[in-house]
Amino acid sequence: MTLLAAEKVNVVYEPARGTRIWSVRDVDLDLKQGEFVGLVGESGCGKSTLGFALTRMLRAPARLENGVISFGGVDVASLTGEALRRQRRKGFAIVLQSGMNALNPVRNVELHFSDILRAHAGPGEHYSDAAVRRRGAELLGKVSLEASVLKKFPHELSGGMRQRVSIALVLSLEPKMIVFDEPTTALDVIVQKAVMQTIQELQRDQGFTAILISHDLGVVLESTNRVMVMYAGRIVEDQPSKELVRGLHHPYTEALLGCYADPRAEEIHLEGIPGTPPDLSKPLTGCAYAPRCPLAQEICWKVVPPLAPLGSGTAACHVRAPSAKVPGAQAAAAKAGAGRVATK
Ligand SMILES: Nc1ncnc2c1ncn2[C@@H]1O[C@H](COP(=O)(O)OP(=O)(O)O)[C@@H](O)[C@H]1O
Ligand SMILES: [Mg+2]
Repeated sequence: MTLLAAEKVNVVYEPARGTRIWSVRDVDLDLKQGEFVGLVGESGCGKSTLGFALTRMLRAPARLENGVISFGGVDVASLTGEALRRQRRKGFAIVLQSGMNALNPVRNVELHFSDILRAHAGPGEHYSDAAVRRRGAELLGKVSLEASVLKKFPHELSGGMRQRVSIALVLSLEPKMIVFDEPTTALDVIVQKAVMQTIQELQRDQGFTAILISHDLGVVLESTNRVMVMYAGRIVEDQPSKELVRGLHHPYTEALLGCYADPRAEEIHLEGIPGTPPDLSKPLTGCAYAPRCPLAQEICWKVVPPLAPLGSGTAACHVRAPSAKVPGAQAAAAKAGAGRVATK
């Protein structure tokens, strides 16, 4: 059953008058109840912006330019105020990269639980201090933390514990969908594995739909059922995770498959893909990946490729997934096939 259906979602940043950065472009997606989906791509491709748009967390200078976001049959793209607040309970939520940023340094963990539980209490529902402690301890247990953590301040917790607390706070709203935005990127490898395991177990046990945003395809392939690859604000491939490691794919996906970043590095640079992602303030005149693509044909510079069937999913590539709707794509694909360039 479809939980989230997005159509033609566009997000623009307007940091200064006259500057418009199209960070999410015409994204269509469909998520089923209980799916665990990865969203991957290099830094700056629009992953976080899309995650924020889907959970209605965009803040200025970002704006949802247009698009429909239907969540459980409700159009949430236009909701505001109380109606939006209601969707946050048993609706959608986001866990951010750095647990520290999500937590208030002068409030202990128990106060974070009381804030969130009381702010989202249903009609007639009242949380006494004892009830907050009980529910807080129960939620901390779900993320493998002891109840004693309730009394701690954020600076008294390790990075991994802070991220667990952030997850427990989000769980308190019993969401049907959680976006995890690089939840383990700031953590060292061992802690990263442990937190990812907790996320996977929670997802399995509680059955919420999850979107795992990561620049690391390795992490995503280990935990998800399905992977969406994002490039220059667009979804360029969407495949079952198990299919991603075999067969031919979007050349960008193939480039990512050859890249594993060191998660401990302070700044993550993906080695091995020559060139850089395009300037998002310019309109697209063809495939955004064409300047870096070893398979690019003339058509790739001229026509933006639509998502078309490839393998068990879809890809936006004139060469690998020529769309019947694009005149000349089949011929270009045949030509590229004749002189196929090895990408690895
Ligand atoms: N606060 C901002 N102001 C202006 N532009 C922004 C801002 N945040 C992001 N962007 C633009 O949006 C693009 C996508 O950003 P983001 O969604 O954070 O990418 P990702 O999460 O994939 O690294 C960036 O390349 C940048 O051009
Ligand atoms: Mg991001």
